[in-house]
Amino acid sequence: MICLFLSISLFINVVRSQTNCIASYSNLAIKGNDINGVQGSSSSCCQSCQQKRGCLAYYWDDFNGGTCWLKNDTQPLYVNNGSSAGILSPNTNNTYSLLVNYDATNFLTNSFSFIHSKDPSQGFVNYTDQTTAEQTGLIKIQNGKVFIGVDNKTILEPNSTYGRNAVRVESLKQYNAGLFIFNIDHMPTGKGLWPAFWSYGPSWPNSGEIDILEGVWTMNYNQISLHTREGCDMQVNDSIYFNGTWVLQYNKPGTNCYIHAPGEYPGDAGCSIAAPVNTFNNGFNQAGGGVFAMEWEPEKFLRIWNFVKPNVPSDIASVRA
Ligand SMILES: *[C@@H]1O[C@H](CO)[C@@H](O)[C@H](O)[C@H]1NC(C)=O
Ligand SMILES: *[C@@H]1O[C@H](CO)[C@@H](O)[C@H](O)[C@H]1NC(C)=O
Ligand SMILES: *[C@@H]1O[C@H](CO)[C@@H](O)[C@H](O)[C@H]1NC(C)=O
Ligand SMILES: *[C@@H]1O[C@H](CO)[C@@H](O)[C@H](O)[C@H]1NC(C)=O
Ligand SMILES: *[C@@H]1O[C@H](CO)[C@@H](O)[C@H](O)[C@H]1NC(C)=O
Ligand SMILES: *[C@@H]1O[C@H](CO)[C@@H](O)[C@H](O)[C@H]1NC(C)=O
Ligand SMILES: *[C@@H]1O[C@H](CO)[C@@H](O)[C@H](O)[C@H]1NC(C)=O
Ligand SMILES: *[C@@H]1O[C@H](CO)[C@@H](O)[C@H](O)[C@H]1NC(C)=O
Repeated sequence: MICLFLSISLFINVVRSQTNCIASYSNLAIKGNDINGVQGSSSSCCQSCQQKRGCLAYYWDDFNGGTCWLKNDTQPLYVNNGSSAGILSPNTNNTYSLLVNYDATNFLTNSFSFIHSKDPSQGFVNYTDQTTAEQTGLIKIQNGKVFIGVDNKTILEPNSTYGRNAVRVESLKQYNAGLFIFNIDHMPTGKGLWPAFWSYGPSWPNSGEIDILEGVWTMNYNQISLHTREGCDMQVNDSIYFNGTWVLQYNKPGTNCYIHAPGEYPGDAGCSIAAPVNTFNNGFNQAGGGVFAMEWEPEKFLRIWNFVKPNVPSDIASVRA
């Protein structure tokens, strides 16, 4: 695993978000996972769900003059003529307050620890300590931006047991909710590379891993993944909730995020979604980069966006200024 970006600014905003129901899907219902049913019109269901502790989604049908079936899960979906399903989503009018901003002013001072060892993820690489990284120019501030690179000069000995020097950093602070915005101008490309932005919790995989940005070699799309303990299993047709496509494992969508999911690839494949093309690699760089964002509301949502320039929302652009 080589984690590196040629330039980064990170913005992290944290505030508890409100919800609304931007999504509603005709002729779909959600099986099981009932909290209760509330009499009402289809337009009242969102509010009923918001007011009900644990409610994440609902469907409406004409039972008893109209009933909102409140659910503690967004799936499994099934076709049900005449009903409509909806999910709670973070309110698009949320205002976030900036908690911390990692950029050229503080990136190299008391913000990150440098992993310095062989790669815990078995990549063929030698992560360097901060002093080595700075002395050899693998990390630096350049034109007011953070540069993270890789040793692209050394010719390794044949049969070397060490890969080339590279940089992997982890934030010293830990977060358990928020809106995380990663502003990247350029990412490394080429064979053997694996640039990534990950997050993970303690006691892996019990508290999970969220991979917001990663790809290998010549992939031209960002691959978003979860790696979890048993019990985080999605449905093929949950794809209505996102743009992008399930990544296949053994020719089937790998929807089970459990690291030892039966019927999926061994070795911790997790579950992955392929974002649209040009969210990674040369297409991303040629556009001048972009922004990756994760909104994480524990027990409720996890949403990830890939914005490639010039399609970066103006409210993100203004945070940067
Ligand atoms: C959702 O509700 C079902 C009962 O309908 C219950 O068995 C399940 O544990 C609940 N799940 C969560 C995450 O609360
Ligand atoms: C969702 O997929 C399952 C099989 O994975 C299928 O049985 C079900 O009918 C699908 N639901 C919808 C709404 O397509
Ligand atoms: C769905 O319901 C509508 C109105 O009740 C009906 O006209 C239509 O034939 C139904 N479609 C299916 C596939 O059952
Ligand atoms: C967002 O705010 C605007 C203006 O205050 C309002 O018209 C709109 O309904 C709000 N949208 C949501 C999803 O709350
Ligand atoms: C690996 O990186 C460390 C610095 O963290 C450095 O001291 C060591 O020489 C490097 N190993 C190789 C084989 O280059
Ligand atoms: C090699 O790394 C240096 C900085 O260490 C960078 O300026 C240069 O563009 C890189 N060359 C290639 C071909 O990536
Ligand atoms: C590298 O390893 C191969 C196979 O183990 C061996 O044949 C070769 O002599 C080694 N080369 C060097 C330079 O040690
Ligand atoms: C998918 O992309 C379209 C066009 O950019 C957007 O309108 C829509 O909201 C997106 N859907 C999801 C689930 O993100």
